[in-house]
Amino acid sequence: MTTYTQEEAAQKIAALTEDLNQHAYRYYVLDDAIISDAEYDRRLRELEALEKDFPAFRLPDSPTQRVGGPALEHFDKVTHRIPMLSLANAMNKEELVEFDQRVKKQLGLSASQHVEYIAEPKIDGIAISLLYEDNQFSVGATRGDGVTGEDITANLKTISAIPLRLFDGKKTVPPVVEVRGEAYMPRDGFDAFNEEQRKIGEKAFANPRNATAGSLKQLDPSTTAKRPLSAFIYAPGYMEEVEINSQWDFLDTIESWGFPRNPLSRRCQGVEEVIQCYEDLMEQRPRLNYDIDGMVVKVNDYALQKQLGFISKSPRWAIAFKFPPQQEITKVLDIQIQVGRTGKLTPVAHLEPIQVAGVMVSRATLHNQDEIDKKDIRVGDYVVIQRAGDVIPEVVTVITDRRVPDAQPYKIPPRCPCGMSESERAPGEAAHYCTGLACPSRLKSGFEHFVSRKAMNVEGLGPKIIDQAVDDGLLQAIPDLYRLTEQDWRSLERTGERSVQNLLQSLEKSKDTTLARFLFALGIRHVGETTARTLSDHFETLHGLYQASLEDLKDVPDVGPIVAFSVYHFFQQEENRDTIQALLDLGIEIAPPTKVIADLPGKEFFEDKTFVITGSLAQMSRDDAKEQIQARGGKVSGSISKKTDYLVAGAAAGSKLQKAQSLGVSVLDEEAFLARLQGE
Ligand code: IVH
Repeated sequence: MTTYTQEEAAQKIAALTEDLNQHAYRYYVLDDAIISDAEYDRRLRELEALEKDFPAFRLPDSPTQRVGGPALEHFDKVTHRIPMLSLANAMNKEELVEFDQRVKKQLGLSASQHVEYIAEPKIDGIAISLLYEDNQFSVGATRGDGVTGEDITANLKTISAIPLRLFDGKKTVPPVVEVRGEAYMPRDGFDAFNEEQRKIGEKAFANPRNATAGSLKQLDPSTTAKRPLSAFIYAPGYMEEVEINSQWDFLDTIESWGFPRNPLSRRCQGVEEVIQCYEDLMEQRPRLNYDIDGMVVKVNDYALQKQLGFISKSPRWAIAFKFPPQQEITKVLDIQIQVGRTGKLTPVAHLEPIQVAGVMVSRATLHNQDEIDKKDIRVGDYVVIQRAGDVIPEVVTVITDRRVPDAQPYKIPPRCPCGMSESERAPGEAAHYCTGLACPSRLKSGFEHFVSRKAMNVEGLGPKIIDQAVDDGLLQAIPDLYRLTEQDWRSLERTGERSVQNLLQSLEKSKDTTLARFLFALGIRHVGETTARTLSDHFETLHGLYQASLEDLKDVPDVGPIVAFSVYHFFQQEENRDTIQALLDLGIEIAPPTKVIADLPGKEFFEDKTFVITGSLAQMSRDDAKEQIQARGGKVSGSISKKTDYLVAGAAAGSKLQKAQSLGVSVLDEEAFLARLQGE
């Protein structure tokens, strides 16, 4: 270890702090990192070690301060120096045009003149105010009622996108600066965080906005520090001694001071260009890594803004141009029970079909009895339904005013729809389950899952054939799949000679499988694809899993107590062991997890790097490409971020390629990828 004198340590700490803050700025604000994450972490650790030895020299804007300070007992109140206002809404183009007409009229402009507007994405997060005194971040607050908010400084300090210290840029930073913006949770971070929550048996959040609100309300900032939050700044608050003439000037200026601004904000000449921007934004919306619920349109020129002034609680110079609603009202025609492969009974509302954000919706999951009770959903009710992203539609609330007088509360029936067995609520769980192992609905979904692409990957065995085979009594248990003869399959409708031959071949091929696929295929409750892989990597063989105690399972990283119990219970049950044995006797061969093989060509290139695969590859499927990368110690992720090392782009690569290019992620075409796999 290098030994430093006091003076050297102070200098080194200051230099490292400055250096790390510069790199964080490049990463979060300019989207132009020039050192790798690993190098950043290495320098951060170096600073941490120095600060530990020389705590007196730690600077207030040290990035090590982002891990979260001591827990608070409550949040103090903060009175905003200037109230935080809200915006009026335009629900459609006509209302936006009316807004433009009002603006022009008040400014004394003719109908043919154009007002310059700034069109910004309306971030669906939590509004925040950030105060800087003498360049240091001093107070961060929620909007609250607009006049008084809560002091959440400690939590906001943990967000790396929020600068702890400002530096002079386009203009000198005034002694007191307050800016406003939105804290949000990126979608990829939200998905990972929710998956983690489920794994450890904690509550998952309904959407990124709720997760952001929940994270900012933590009294212990070290909890907030673990949440993947970020922020965009879009409005001035109280500011001393600085001349900023327009919203565009504001965005440029704050960016140069160190704040993150949204890259999709545009200058528009007149309302027609605003509408064009709105359509572009709506088109981009599904691919953004954060939720937006519309566009905010602001008169650019601050002098004009001043002239327009305010009406009640919103400015006359801005409007929120909302996207079409993701929520609609429709009628519950019926509630039916769907039986999952684990026997789980899910009540599903059958709805009068309705378009929600461009998609026809006729069913919505009601989750379980508790949800139905909580929302008091009854057949015949009018309900508000919503679709967020590509999530299955759900019922938000019942419009009780429109309820018919004889509507009855709904109870999940005591018998499974299979008519054979009773339904039962599992202790400690919200769901009801069918108790019958021979329940045909349960069997059908179990077979569908077993043969699915990511499980045993049997081709040519769709739900229609499975339905018939179960109804005819041919398929009664999983091993029957491998016992049925050509004649058996041929006895079903719509199964010609060719298709049965192909099916038999595919069944044969599926016998060579991996432990991860097999575990996933078994349909063990709470064991999805990722957990199956985790278990396979950890235990390596079926035998290992048979031997595992509950404690062993709980000790596996990323396996929470609920998952551990479910797996343990599964392997303890005699009938499950018998099923597995029968499958092995029928010739299923389970390969141990692909270990990183030292001499696999190209390993040095792939190891510890993160790849995203897009477009179609001519030489191999995307799944094969994934396996090849993983076998060489690389990681494969579904979405591009700054953490992605390479994008493997096949033919007709679309938005991911664009995103990679805009983030400066290196791109490998198929040829280059194959060459790397061969170690070239
Ligand atoms: S400007 C006086 N710009 O939308 C105008 N707001 O109802 C202050 N929001 O509370 C707001 N993105 O939380 C502005 N680019 C953006 C925004 C934005 C999201 C939120 C903000 C505000 C609400 C307005």
